[in-house]
Amino acid sequence: MRPNDTPLMLPLTGVPDLIHLSDLHLRDDESLRRLRRLVQAIATRHGAAQKTVVVLTGDIVDTPDRALWREAETLVALLQDAGVAVVGCPGNHDVGWMGLGANAGDRAMAQRWFTTTWGAPESAKAWPREYGAPGLTLLLCDTTVGENTLATGQLGYTQRMALAAAAQRAKARGDQVVVAMHHHPVNDDASLKLHDAEALLHLLASRCDVLLCGHLHQASAWSGVWGIGRIYAADAAVEAQRYRHLSFQHGRWLASWVRP
Ligand SMILES: [Fe+2]
Repeated sequence: MRPNDTPLMLPLTGVPDLIHLSDLHLRDDESLRRLRRLVQAIATRHGAAQKTVVVLTGDIVDTPDRALWREAETLVALLQDAGVAVVGCPGNHDVGWMGLGANAGDRAMAQRWFTTTWGAPESAKAWPREYGAPGLTLLLCDTTVGENTLATGQLGYTQRMALAAAAQRAKARGDQVVVAMHHHPVNDDASLKLHDAEALLHLLASRCDVLLCGHLHQASAWSGVWGIGRIYAADAAVEAQRYRHLSFQHGRWLASWVRP
């Protein structure tokens, strides 16, 4: 059985391109139809090259429901079958009714999905989940840990320490380090914030090239602050019908919006 500090290797060659999708909020036929359109466009455009990873930063479902998770699994399989790798982490809506707090049963259902859907072994259950590709380490975090009121979140001490250690190891290997999570680390709204954002940002300083997040449904970007190369916040992908595409070229990450 693999130890937790060995990355799961993605079946890709070269530093992959990234597609960031967040806050899908699957809830009904219309949202599923719109996501299917987006996913099919991604599969058609990026599948053949086999060098793209879709990063899902949580709130996959609007409220926990077994049937919605199954639908989401079908769409992930469509991407994987086309040659696009997929990784993801949970948001507050994935683990609690209407995104408020977390419920043990809903959390277990989400955690199962985030493990079995990727074919990850039991030993990879711990967060952060580490994925590797040539020249790249992707670290997916769970910001729904512990007791959180309203739509707030946290990584907790144990996960923050494991994340810092994994990022440090990846930097020592010379990898580009991409960290992804649901909650927004640069937001102070009392009902939405990441409680341990400040500690997180200090730990990632100079150890993180790109940080991806969602939660606010508002796209934004920062460069070179807190010692982190780029921070990208995504909008709600199904609603916006667009995605941010990142590619690593000549030593830097280039970002563009694609509206299929
Ligand atoms: Fe959220």
